[in-house]
Amino acid sequence: MGFTPRDFRDCLGLFATGVAVATCLDSRGEPIGLTINSFSSVSLEPPLVLWCLDRASATYGAFTSADIFAVNILAEGCHETARHFSDPCREAPDPGTIRPGRSGAPLLDEAMAHLECARHAIHDGGDHVILVGRVLAIETAPKRPLVYFRGTFDRLG
Ligand SMILES: Cc1cc2nc3c(=O)[nH]c(=O)nc-3n(C[C@H](O)[C@H](O)[C@H](O)COP(=O)(O)O)c2cc1C
Repeated sequence: MGFTPRDFRDCLGLFATGVAVATCLDSRGEPIGLTINSFSSVSLEPPLVLWCLDRASATYGAFTSADIFAVNILAEGCHETARHFSDPCREAPDPGTIRPGRSGAPLLDEAMAHLECARHAIHDGGDHVILVGRVLAIETAPKRPLVYFRGTFDRLG
């Protein structure tokens, strides 16, 4: 193909993104989360968003079974939260940092925005699946975003 997997990853890393934590309840009703930057808007009417989940993730079964999930957009300074939810050996989230949203989806208190979603569709995406959610509720806070660029957490400006 003329490029290596490393070239491909490095190229994708040039697309600066925000950082979010996708959350849902697992089969025992416990909150789980995963750091993501594949979040994207899809449709305004109906309100749809998507993110991509690695088929190899320990959270795969929970997210693909959950009727409801949330996308928590992280604010500047939330590096530790982003690192925590990307660690394969992470502990369960501290209950003091999470509250249930209107849909029942777990919401991270420190996020700058929450989108509570009902599962709308799951599409094939190679070694990932594409989870499309219909947005049921949103909350926003006047904070600045955490940014991810070239494999590093950064800030705007
Ligand atoms: C900034 C950042 C963005 C990430 N984006 C995604 C993503 O969009 N989808 C995904 O499946 N994993 C993503 N990951 C990786 C997962 O967060 C991480 O590999 C995973 O939590 C590992 O543990 P698991 O086996 O419990 O999934 C991202 C990691 C980081 C640090």
